[in-house]
Amino acid sequence: MQDERSLKKSQTLFADAGDCIYSLVQLYDAGSGDHISGFYPRFIESGKNAHIWDLDGNEYIDFDMGLGPIILGYCYEAVDRAVAEQLSRGMHFSLVSPQEVEYAQMLQKHIPCADKVRFFKTGSSACEAAIRTARAYTGKKHVIRGEFHGWHEWTVAAEGIRQGGILPEVRQYTHRCDYNALDQFVEIFERYPDDMAAVIIEPVIIEGPKDNFLRDLQDLCRSYGAVLVFDEVVTGFRFDIGGAQKLLGVTPDLAVFGKGAANGLPLSFVCGKKEILDAVEKDVYFFTTFGGERLSLSAGMAVLAELETKNVTRKIWDTGLELRTNVNEMAQRLGVRIALVGMAPRLMFSFWDRKGRFDNELKNIFMQECIKRGVFLGWTVFPCFTHTKEDIAAALTVFEEAMKKCLSHQNAKDSAAAWLTFGRNL
Ligand SMILES: Cc1ncc(COP(=O)(O)O)c(C=O)c1O
Repeated sequence: MQDERSLKKSQTLFADAGDCIYSLVQLYDAGSGDHISGFYPRFIESGKNAHIWDLDGNEYIDFDMGLGPIILGYCYEAVDRAVAEQLSRGMHFSLVSPQEVEYAQMLQKHIPCADKVRFFKTGSSACEAAIRTARAYTGKKHVIRGEFHGWHEWTVAAEGIRQGGILPEVRQYTHRCDYNALDQFVEIFERYPDDMAAVIIEPVIIEGPKDNFLRDLQDLCRSYGAVLVFDEVVTGFRFDIGGAQKLLGVTPDLAVFGKGAANGLPLSFVCGKKEILDAVEKDVYFFTTFGGERLSLSAGMAVLAELETKNVTRKIWDTGLELRTNVNEMAQRLGVRIALVGMAPRLMFSFWDRKGRFDNELKNIFMQECIKRGVFLGWTVFPCFTHTKEDIAAALTVFEEAMKKCLSHQNAKDSAAAWLTFGRNL
């Protein structure tokens, strides 16, 4: 991997993108806010296992993994083969595909709450289906949501940004609470005791559940007659073949899976308890042309077969643990204010200043120094099945070099602050 990388082709094409692609990126996190201008390539040309190549031919070890979906690795043979076989028979027809039944039966076997399953293409649309189901089932309006559940109106209504086009009256029905903060949930339930339709949260985001949080939340929902929905768009298959719900031993009423289901093909689904889904079957409308599209379903089945036979999640956990342990030991040894936090399958770098506040400068320097040396990072660090020992060793060498650069910056900033304090006290 070279150190001086040209990004010329990337930058030239990106200059054209502004003229034809609305808002430049399809996914918010793929924007330049996270992928620093002038250092990050703008386009990825290809990938194999955990490596990617940009438009200028530069190679990177990737930890962003298509923003989560690539749990096995890029161009993973068993999945590609299944897709190619299906391709030769046809992509999409007007009747139910046999794969829908076969795949749903596989999901039933592994996911505790999956009595029944319905397929979609994106996490957002499957979350929309879950919330609509919950509202239809309970006849109630209010929803508490967690960190992020896509772009549909009910959820964006509780964001702090980009409220254009959201009906103001929708906002009153969506409330946002922090993970692990049970008291916040209780407060909303007490405010609308007769009108709580659902709570939708990720079963784990970065930190795991504390003080029986998930069970207490489940009890709270039950006592008010609200539906508990786990958004497993990120955690599904990555934490466990049965989702984080299986790992953590709490079975929600409904759950939503997406990203990793088909290792990069667009496949998501809502699943849940029979009594809820059956009760509203004739009342709710969510039908979509490509729900049964066959390439993605074939990929989904191939992914599940790999998960069943190859201990994929164990390997993902081990890789994440190895990264986390080594990065944190390294940061402490160097004395730099950086840590890798989270549960092993979904980690995040944390950067803080001398007062313990998020340090964006430190983050940017770290990201820059990593990308210059061939390690591609996003907000989240996603280990995949085909990250090798060599990839991890190479990435750790890069992390150490990047941390040393961060340390120089940290020391300079700390001395400047110390001089300022000294000056003020004179
Ligand atoms: C937890 C969670 N839920 C839902 C979504 C929305 O999924 P999609 O972007 O496929 O619509 C995302 C996307 O990042 C997500 O992270």
